[in-house]
Amino acid sequence: MDYFTYRDGTMCAEDVPISKIAAEVGTPFYLYSSAALLHHFQLFDSALESMDHQVFYAMKAASNQAILKLLADAGAGMDVVSGGEYARARSAGVPGELIVFSGVGKTRAEMVIALGGGIRQFNVESEPEMQALSEVATEIGQVAPITIRINPNVDAKTHSKISTGKKEDKFGIPILRAREVFAMAAKLPGLKVVGIDVHIGSQLTELEPYGLAYEMVAELTEILRADGHEISRLDLGGGLGIAYKSINDNPPTPEDYAALVREKVGHLGCQIEIEPGRFIVGNAGILVSEIIYVKSGEDRKFLIIDGAMNDLIRPALYGAHHEITPVQQPICDAEYENYDVVGPVCESGDTFAKGRSLPSMLAGDLVAFHSAGAYGAVMASEYNSRPLIPEVMVSGSQFAVIRERPSLDDMINRDVLPKWY
Ligand code: LLP
Repeated sequence: MDYFTYRDGTMCAEDVPISKIAAEVGTPFYLYSSAALLHHFQLFDSALESMDHQVFYAMKAASNQAILKLLADAGAGMDVVSGGEYARARSAGVPGELIVFSGVGKTRAEMVIALGGGIRQFNVESEPEMQALSEVATEIGQVAPITIRINPNVDAKTHSKISTGKKEDKFGIPILRAREVFAMAAKLPGLKVVGIDVHIGSQLTELEPYGLAYEMVAELTEILRADGHEISRLDLGGGLGIAYKSINDNPPTPEDYAALVREKVGHLGCQIEIEPGRFIVGNAGILVSEIIYVKSGEDRKFLIIDGAMNDLIRPALYGAHHEITPVQQPICDAEYENYDVVGPVCESGDTFAKGRSLPSMLAGDLVAFHSAGAYGAVMASEYNSRPLIPEVMVSGSQFAVIRERPSLDDMINRDVLPKWY
C-alpha cells in the first residue's frame, strides 16, 4: 500500500498535499507517513502471530523520537546498537525489557548504561565482549542476559557493504566454535545465556539465505540444549528487503518470511525475536527536494536539486536506486526527458541518478525521492556545511515537524575556539 499518492494532480502524504508542507517547512526535508509505519509494523507482527514472538524495530534505520514512540505504542520493542540509541529508545518511553542491544563493539560505558536502565538482552558477538560484560555486570551486582550471535557463513546475496553473515564479515562467532563459546559464557559469573542470535545482512530479496541460516540455528539449538544450555529465545535478526523500484522489485513478504520461520524453527518452542528496520520505515518515508536549476551539459541535462549526498547518502555509498517522481502530477501526454539528478555538493559522487526519465522539469518544481525512510536521515551529515534537514511526520490530515532544521548559528556554534586564540 502506498501512502504517497497523487490526488487532484498533486502528490499527497496520506491526506496532506506535499506542496503545502514544502511551503511551510522549506526544502529539502524527510517526510514520514505514520499510517505506513504502523501498517508495516503490523504486517510483521500479525504474520508472526501464531508464534510466541516480539518485534524489535532496528532503530538504526530511522531513530526520530516520534517514530520510536509511534512504534512503541503499537507494541514494538527496539533493537539498539549504541548507548545513544539506547538513550533515545528509553527517552521515547520504551521499557528496558523491550530493548535488545546488538553490535560488535559495545563499550563498557554502554554496558553500564544499559544494565543500569534495564535491558532484555545483549546480543554478544565475541569472547572478549563476553568477558567485559561479565565483569561490568558483576561489578554492579547484576547478571546480564545474553544471546550469542553466531556467524553461519551464509551468503545473503545482497550488497557487499550490508552482508553480515559470511565468515569474512566482522560479525558474530563462527558457528563452528559455537559450542565452545557457549560453554565459556555459561561459566562466566556475570552472564546468563538465554538464546542464540543471527543476522545475515540487510535488503535481502530472497528467502533462501534465511532458510539456510535458520536451519543451522535450529540444529545448534538442539546441540546446545543437549549441552545443558537454556535456549529459550531465538533472535533471528532483520534484513527483509523492500521494493526500491516500482516495477521488477518483488521481495518476499512478511507472511512468506514468517512461514519460513515457522517451518525452520517453529518446533523448538523458543520465543522468536526479529529486528526489522528497513521494512518498517523504508517505504514509509520520502525525501522532498526542489529543483534549483536545470542545466544543459554537452550531452546531457542536469537537474540540480537542493538535496545532496549529505542528506541522502545511499546512492553515493551503495549505488542505491531511489525512484524520483515529480510532486506535481505530470499531465497525460507530458514529454519525458532524461536527466542526471545531482545535488550541489562539490564532488561528482553527489549524483542521485543518471539518465533518469522524468517529465520535463523546471526550476522550482518539487521532486520526491521514494523509499528514503530507512537509512536516510540517520546517515545524513553536514558535509559542505549544509545543516541537517528537517523531518516531518503526517498522520491523516495533520502534519508536524518532528525535527527542526537547525539554524546556521546552531551549526556553527557547536564549534569551540581554543582558549589560546
Ligand atoms: N539487526 C542488526 C543486527 C543489524 O545490523 C541490522 C542492520 C538490522 C537488524 C536491520 O536490518 P534491516 O531490517 O533494516 O535491513 N545503511 C545500509 C543498511 C545497513 C544495515 C545495517 N544493519 C543501507 O542504507 O542500505
